Amino acid sequence: MQIFLDTADVKDIRELAALGVVDGVTTNPSLVAKEGRPFKDIAAEILQIVDGPISLEVVSTDAPGMMAEARELAKLHKNVVVKIPLIAEGLKAVKQLSAEGIRTNVTLCFSAAQALLAAKAGAGYISPFVGRLDDISHMGMDLVRQIVAIYKNYGYPTRVLAASLRTPIHFVEAALAGAHVCTLPPAVLRQLLKHPLTDIGLERFLADWKKVPKTG
Ligand code: G3P
Repeated sequence: MQIFLDTADVKDIRELAALGVVDGVTTNPSLVAKEGRPFKDIAAEILQIVDGPISLEVVSTDAPGMMAEARELAKLHKNVVVKIPLIAEGLKAVKQLSAEGIRTNVTLCFSAAQALLAAKAGAGYISPFVGRLDDISHMGMDLVRQIVAIYKNYGYPTRVLAASLRTPIHFVEAALAGAHVCTLPPAVLRQLLKHPLTDIGLERFLADWKKVPKTG
């Protein structure tokens, strides 16, 4: 399973990419807005730090506008994946972009039916939003399971990118469900590493090591 970072914070990306387990990055307009810097500057830095799929989102809501934005974004770097919202105009754009060889990540997916349509349109990735479904008392992870099963039934090559993940449990459940990718906020990736028994165990090993005689 691949791990992407879900952030536009280049400081976090730089620090966590150094772990060697980050395969890509996803951004969205809200994450970019938090940084208070121009989008193009942020995108250029992310593309320089991580050599893997980098999702950059369009903000047009009509297919021609989305396609024009997508073509510009795709010119930035070979690793750019264009994030397109799962609306009717978005599907039209995905179909055309896929024919042009521009990779897409279809975002704001909240149902298996939407995911099936995105795959038919030629989406490179589908992004089911787990946490936002949990927020409204739906089992967000059920959606990931359904999409994985449906894509498998028909052999769609679209990759399932579990998004809006907020906890380490989300990460493990998405992996068990067979998601191809989990995109994680930096804080969640940091949480994955931590276990109190690891810290206590290491402390004991190091304390005991001091008791080992240095010479025979
Ligand atoms: O990848 C989509 C993600 O950024 C949405 O997360 O926590 O805003 O629902 P959240």
